[in-house]
Amino acid sequence: MPPSILVTGGAGYVGSHTVATLLERDDNRYDIVVVDNLSNSYRSENEKKPEALRRIEDMTGSTIHFYANDIRDRAALNRIFENHEIECVIHFAALKAVGESVEKPLEYYQANITGTCTLLEVMREHGVTQLVYSSSCTVYGEPQKLPLDEGHPTGQGISSPYGRTKYFCEEIMKDLCASDQNWKVISLRYFNPVGAHGSGRIGEDPYGIPNNLMPFISQVAVGRLSELLVFGGDYPTADGSGVRDYIHVQDLADGHVRAIQLFQDPRFVGFQPINLGTGTGYSVLQMVAAFEAASGCKIPHRVVGRRAGDIATNYADVSLARQLLGWGASRTVIDMCRDTWKWQSENPNGYKN
Ligand code: NAD
Ligand code: UFG
Repeated sequence: MPPSILVTGGAGYVGSHTVATLLERDDNRYDIVVVDNLSNSYRSENEKKPEALRRIEDMTGSTIHFYANDIRDRAALNRIFENHEIECVIHFAALKAVGESVEKPLEYYQANITGTCTLLEVMREHGVTQLVYSSSCTVYGEPQKLPLDEGHPTGQGISSPYGRTKYFCEEIMKDLCASDQNWKVISLRYFNPVGAHGSGRIGEDPYGIPNNLMPFISQVAVGRLSELLVFGGDYPTADGSGVRDYIHVQDLADGHVRAIQLFQDPRFVGFQPINLGTGTGYSVLQMVAAFEAASGCKIPHRVVGRRAGDIATNYADVSLARQLLGWGASRTVIDMCRDTWKWQSENPNGYKN
């Protein structure tokens, strides 16, 4: 049996792009096994596999093993580890809507923390001790200095239960690594993932009205929404709108591949957080202008009050990613906007139809 990578949440946005990137590599030696409960990904009624994975199989000519299970279902996870020779896990599965987490904190702690603990326990039972974790720059809270490097304090002033689940999971995995030298955990702290696979066949397909900037802009462009509300015009930034470090999802996916490669280095052990961003911040209004330039569409927009919990500016120090992973983002903001537009214009209703 070839070695496998278990990808939790692999039918979702970042997970599907990472699966595609792994399978597209000429030197890929892994089978890909995905577990996803489909709570935020689409599968059509007559199909066994989610649409994103079906399209990746079509694009790559590979077979993806798929299990429609919740990561809190210990028996189901055990069966997956019994059925496949799992070498390492990339753990994307989580609830991720910041606003919803304020309304439903228990659901978020249950899904994200209990889910992660169950996964870690089952991994340990099966002697699998290599994990790449999807963390977030939200663990830094309100930036005390910029750019944010991995030495910046975490856990202070995090504005949502969602953000705290990411912080708590990091702490849990840190403790686990301290207790047992066999564990290797790389916690990738994403800044703002945007964009889509260059083919236009897979992309971000949020349920309902998008919370995040880029899916909102692209749905305005395609006519599903009428105008963008720019949350805040009075931040201490060049044009008054909020500044973020947007990173192309394909660059992010490459970062996961590099993290898996780091597991092969016998000197690497323990818990290691690593930022994945570009190191450059763009404002909301700059992103609107970039999208207009890349798509040729006008994006009607209006500046309104700030959104609760938002910070003015963040962007990453990415030197550790370069040092440890030999990784750096190569795609520009125009690439991000062009690929978002290709996906959205060719799939105006996302994966449905
Ligand atoms: P997503 O919602 O598109 O993907 C998550 C997938 O996990 C979905 O397909 C969902 O159905 C599945 N899932 C959720 N709970 C599950 C459970 N209990 N059991 C099994 N499957 C479950 O989200 P994404 O944008 O791809 O994010 C992936 C990861 O990256 C998440 O952990 C998220 O917190 C983290 N992250 C995302 C961003 C971002 O802006 N997209 C930023 C920082 C960190
Ligand atoms: N924005 C708007 N209008 C919108 C949506 C967003 O002006 O309709 C602005 C926001 O105010 C912010 C910027 O666009 O200035 C980016 O907002 P997003 O919601 O796209 O992203 P956030 O930076 O707020 O959130 C991201 C991740 C979260 C993570 C958070 C940590 O999506 O998972 O970073 O900072 F928790």
